[in-house]
Amino acid sequence: MTMNNKSAVTLLEENMPQQRTQTIGGPAPSYGREAGTGFPARRLRRLRQNDRFRRLVREHSLSIDDLILPLFVVPGHGIKHEINAIPGNYHLSIDKLIEEAKEIRDLGIPGILLFGVPDPKEKDLLATGAYAPNGIVQEAVRALKKNVPELLVVTDVCLCEYTTHSHCGILQDGYLLNDASKDVLARTALSHVQAGSDMVAPAAMLDGQIRALRQTLDDDGFVNTPIMAYSAKYASKLYDPFFKEGTQSTLSHGDKKTHQMDFSNSNEAMREIAMDIEEGADIVMVKPALYYLDIVYRAKTEFQMPLATYNVSGEYAMIDAAARIGRLDKKLIMMEALISMKRAGADIIITYFAKEVANELK
Ligand code: PBG
Ligand code: ZN
Repeated sequence: MTMNNKSAVTLLEENMPQQRTQTIGGPAPSYGREAGTGFPARRLRRLRQNDRFRRLVREHSLSIDDLILPLFVVPGHGIKHEINAIPGNYHLSIDKLIEEAKEIRDLGIPGILLFGVPDPKEKDLLATGAYAPNGIVQEAVRALKKNVPELLVVTDVCLCEYTTHSHCGILQDGYLLNDASKDVLARTALSHVQAGSDMVAPAAMLDGQIRALRQTLDDDGFVNTPIMAYSAKYASKLYDPFFKEGTQSTLSHGDKKTHQMDFSNSNEAMREIAMDIEEGADIVMVKPALYYLDIVYRAKTEFQMPLATYNVSGEYAMIDAAARIGRLDKKLIMMEALISMKRAGADIIITYFAKEVANELK
C-alpha cells in the first residue's frame, strides 16, 4: 500500500497520534472541533461526548426504589451462613434477619422477598408447615414488622419448601393437583398476612391461584393487601442455585413443567398475565429476567401494569462466577444487566444484587 492510498483517518493517526486520542478516542476537547466533512448533518455522537451530555439524555435509570432483595430465613439463633451458590447472600436465623433488615432499610431499599427454609423434619406431603401459625415465615414476619416496620415484607407463597418431595403442591399419583394445592396456597397466604406480611407473592403457577388468594384475603378483611403474582414464571434451569442451596428443596423426582411455563412460548405468557390481572393481581411478574426480556417488554407494552421481574439465582451466579475467575467486572455487568431490565419495561427488580446496587447508587 502506498502513502497515497491511505485513508484520511490513518494519515491523521500516523501524523498526529496525540490529537487522534484526544478528539476521537477520548473525551472531546473543550473547543469541540474536528475537521468535519460536512456530512452527516445529524451526528449522534454530539450528545455522547461527555458525561454531562450523556446524563442529560439518558432514557432509563436504575434507582434504589426499584429493588427488592430476596432473603432466606432459617430456624435457630445466631445463624448467618453464606449460601455457597449465591455468594453474598445468607441463611439467617430471625435475630440475624432483623440485623440484616435494618441494614437494608438504612440503604433505602424499599422491601424484601422472604423465603422460609424450614427444618426438614417439618416437611410433609400436605405442606402443613407452610401455613403453621408459628411456622418459620410467620414468626419471621412478626419479628420483622415489630422491629423494622418501615421495611416492606413481601412473602413468597409456595409449598415446595414444605413438602417432602419439594413439589409446589400436593401430588396424586405423581401429578401436581391444581385445586387442592391452590387452596393450601390461599391458606398459606392468609397465614402470612395474618402475621403481618405487607404483600404476598404466589409463585406456584397454578391455575386460579390469584383468585383463590384474593378471595381468601378479602374474606378475612385484608382487602388492602396487594398480590404480586409470579404470572409468567418459566420452567427454567436458572433456579438451580436457589433450590439446591437457597431453600434446600431439590425435587425428589420429576420436574415442574406441568405448571411452570415452557420457555419456548411467549403468547402464552401474555395469556397467563391477562388471567392474573383478571383474577386480581396488583403487580405482575416475569421470571427469570435476563433471557426473558422480550416477555418483560411485551408484558409492559400490552398491559401497562406495575411490572416486576425476578433476576434469579442462576443469573446472579453466572455473573458472580465470571467475576471470580476474572472474566467480567461484577459491578459493571450487574449494572448493565439490571438496566436492561428497566429498559425492557420492568418497574420492580427482585435481585440478589440489591445491596450491592444500593451501595453503588448511594
Ligand atoms: C418457588 C420459587 C423458586 C424461585 C423463587 N420462588 C423456585 C422454583 O420455582 O423452582 C426461584 C428463585 C431463584 O432462582 O432465584 N418457591
Ligand atoms: Zn414452588
